[in-house]
Amino acid sequence: MCCKKTLLQAFCCGLFTCIFLGTALQAQITTTPSDPGPRPVGNNNPFCPIPSAKFPNAPPCIDTVQPADNNGNGGAGNVVPGSNLTGFWFQALTVFEVKAVVGPGPQTGGSTIPGLGPSFNAVSCFECHSQPTVGGSSPNKATPGFPNGNPQVADAPTAAQLQAVNSFISATGPVREARFPNGSPGDDTIHRDPVAAGSVAELFVIQGRPDVPATCTIAQEDFPTQVTNHNIIFRIPIPTFGEGFVENTPDENLAGNLATEDAIANNPNFFNPILAIKGAFNTSGNDQTISRFGWKAQNKSMLIFAGEASNVEMGLTNENFTNERTKGNGQCSPNPEPEDQVIVPPDPTDPANRNIPTIFSSFGKDGVASDISSDIENFAVFMRLNASPSQCNFNSGLDPNGRALCNPLDASSQRGAKIFGSLDPGLAGSLTSSSPDTNPNTSTIHTIGCVLCHSNFLRTTTSATPALNNAAFHPFSDFALHTMGTNLADGVTQGAAGSTQFRTAPLWGLGQRLFFLHDGRADNLLSAITAHVPVNVSSPANCTPDMGEACQVIVLFNNLPAGQKQDLLNFLRSL
Ligand code: HEC
Ligand code: HEC
Repeated sequence: MCCKKTLLQAFCCGLFTCIFLGTALQAQITTTPSDPGPRPVGNNNPFCPIPSAKFPNAPPCIDTVQPADNNGNGGAGNVVPGSNLTGFWFQALTVFEVKAVVGPGPQTGGSTIPGLGPSFNAVSCFECHSQPTVGGSSPNKATPGFPNGNPQVADAPTAAQLQAVNSFISATGPVREARFPNGSPGDDTIHRDPVAAGSVAELFVIQGRPDVPATCTIAQEDFPTQVTNHNIIFRIPIPTFGEGFVENTPDENLAGNLATEDAIANNPNFFNPILAIKGAFNTSGNDQTISRFGWKAQNKSMLIFAGEASNVEMGLTNENFTNERTKGNGQCSPNPEPEDQVIVPPDPTDPANRNIPTIFSSFGKDGVASDISSDIENFAVFMRLNASPSQCNFNSGLDPNGRALCNPLDASSQRGAKIFGSLDPGLAGSLTSSSPDTNPNTSTIHTIGCVLCHSNFLRTTTSATPALNNAAFHPFSDFALHTMGTNLADGVTQGAAGSTQFRTAPLWGLGQRLFFLHDGRADNLLSAITAHVPVNVSSPANCTPDMGEACQVIVLFNNLPAGQKQDLLNFLRSL
């Protein structure tokens, strides 16, 4: 009898007698489910090196690409199809990979970006955004271009600076940045800068590098003490694929999607509404529109993020963030400020400039735009026009030439998609508020509602870029904040996002990710999922509000038969 009722009721009145018997025939029984692991990256892109007129002497780029899929995703590492800024994008990709040095600047036409430091976390955007290809997330030793794993190890100017962070930075672990939730007062006597509560404490200082100005004195933060005092949290890089779709989604589409999620989650046939998923948006302080980037959705746009990342991660002052964050003894920034800005090319008709070679690129008009734009504009264009990750079966593998393949989803992954759920009316497992679950009478596979946060269907507004124009896309995020409970809480507030609140992490590109959750604590999907709740809850009745909004969904996951868990994991590795 109870099998005919809703998922929650069936669950309560006897999962093992009802759902389990129903599914045993179809699921591969009781092997322990396991994360199939990241899909292989494959060979490097034959188009490398990509020339940049702005940095003609930069080292050759490393650029692996995903093959496109059949659902309109161009694949990570590619430019969105049909862009009229393709020349700009290819050059911007190289700028994203160029390494920063302390100086001196300006260095137009050089091989490096001047302006690193006084303190920094890494020396290029690419170092942190590189798996499975340029723009992605933290690399490991298997990532092309990173044979030694985490590049931060080699970025440390001295052995002592590396030693100070070795409890959380290692060759095999993720790239990380650190924040001090309670801040740190600094110490003027040794020129250690203060850190405001909750803000980023850069791992390294330029002192000890060969290019440090001779008169500069600056002390690294006291990481061992902050670790001992539990005054430190970590963040790992977020991939930058498909960002133009996210930027170009109007607030009302995000709000409409969240309302749909809420209506389903509050249907008592599906969930106990008292504990239901809610979600709320972070907004930008002044214009009050929905902000959507970063682990707490704290940032509004690619250009703002590019400016902030330049300054926070590498110490590059720019047109968005014009002042150095740290100062040491005030002798540590040898460059004119801002270190990165629009370049006015020398006027070739002025006789005084006759012998200065033009920096104009051979890419045509849009390539010239890259040459004269500031680096942050290049970063923003690169990220905005990155194609969305393709969806390929979890075991697609490589062809005989070592190139990644993209096979359609197999039966197991399709079952996994249905278990995950869908807000796209065209797909299996599709949910509506009146029909929250798939029909339990005809189907033994039930949706457990991951999609009620990890939304698989959003739409952009009009855009001059055809691929972004009124386009449906599949980020597997609602870009809303959700209360996640004590296990994930980080003690940091950013805008409307409090300590326990995080933006639903977009799951597109998950199939090739190596590290998970905001601090990189998980390196496999099973522990990433179970970490959504603080304790191993066995029944929805045991969920309490402090366990977070995901509790009921995770209980449903925990109680899936092994074969269905495997189906879901296989599906996740297809993203
Ligand atoms: C030391 C490693 C590191 C470097 C270097 C780095 N990032 Fe990041 N990036 C991160 C981390 C960590 C986050 C998550 C920040 C957060 O939300 O707390 C992030 C997040 C982002 C995001 C947000 C993506 C999204 O969809 O939410 C963008 C955009 C971004 N970085 C761009 C850049 C650019 C551009 C550069 C170069 C100027 C850069 N990053 C350099 C570590 C790095
Ligand atoms: C209440 C909303 C909610 C529900 C329901 C939910 N998630 Fe999440 N998920 C999040 C948030 C928020 C994060 C980011 C948490 C963090 O990093 O601290 C996240 C992170 C993840 C990550 C790690 C992604 C990354 O970038 O590191 C995976 C994998 C994931 N979720 C899978 C699932 C699966 C599978 C389900 C269903 C069983 C599910 N989630 C249900 C909100 C949710």
